[in-house]
Amino acid sequence: MLRIIETRDYNDMSRKAANIISAQIILKNDSVIGLATGSTPLGIYATLIHWCKKGDLDFSKVKTVNLDEYCGLPKEHAQSYYYFMQENLFKHINIDPGNTYIPNGMNLNRKEECEKYHKMIEQTGGIDLQLLGIGNNGHIGFNEPDDQFANYTHCVELTQSTIEANSRFFDSKEMVPKQAYTMGIGEIMSAKQILIVASGKGKAKVIKEMIEGPVSPKLPASILKFHHNVTLIADQEALSLLDQEYLK
Ligand code: F6R
Repeated sequence: MLRIIETRDYNDMSRKAANIISAQIILKNDSVIGLATGSTPLGIYATLIHWCKKGDLDFSKVKTVNLDEYCGLPKEHAQSYYYFMQENLFKHINIDPGNTYIPNGMNLNRKEECEKYHKMIEQTGGIDLQLLGIGNNGHIGFNEPDDQFANYTHCVELTQSTIEANSRFFDSKEMVPKQAYTMGIGEIMSAKQILIVASGKGKAKVIKEMIEGPVSPKLPASILKFHHNVTLIADQEALSLLDQEYLK
């Protein structure tokens, strides 16, 4: 079941999403939380940091598993997702670094890294809540539009559209890695609860296609409609093209 929560703006989206993640951690203090990088979750992470610093939220038993990582970027590279997570969340909260998992982009043995990550997810006992953003092309994690859905963690060739979208963080388009490790659709869909967030006019078209269109690997996020517990939290701009019927 997919429920849609419309918010006034980005801050409202961030607070509502942070509330759901916080409730999950309060109800189960050793929750396994799947995390995303990108611009959209930044406000959520800032809110969680604030609540943790106030003493309202305790990450000491929480485990996190990130969706993806670029291939070939070392941990200390400012654009690696490892670095992103340290800077924007982990170093500000009381999480045990040993409980945070991100694919190792420097392991060039792809098969080994993918199998290791898949096993690690299984060993956590499963993801309780998976946070997702959505790419302009409908990707979730780095599951790019394709002819089929990939089940498990795998290494992908990034599409031109993703390379262009992500080049805003690099000095030039040429510097954006061409490959990344990503959790597969099967692993994402195995999460007990999914929270997908979107903000801004730039996401309006893909949100409309995801909700109104068919379920297809050509728009990977569309598969979320087959999940039993998924919440889309999006601001008015991101929902601006959606048929109003869906917001009743
Ligand atoms: C990031 C990730 C991506 C992003 C998506 C949206 O870990 O998995 O799927 O969620 O590209 O990115 P933003 O939020 O920057 O628009």
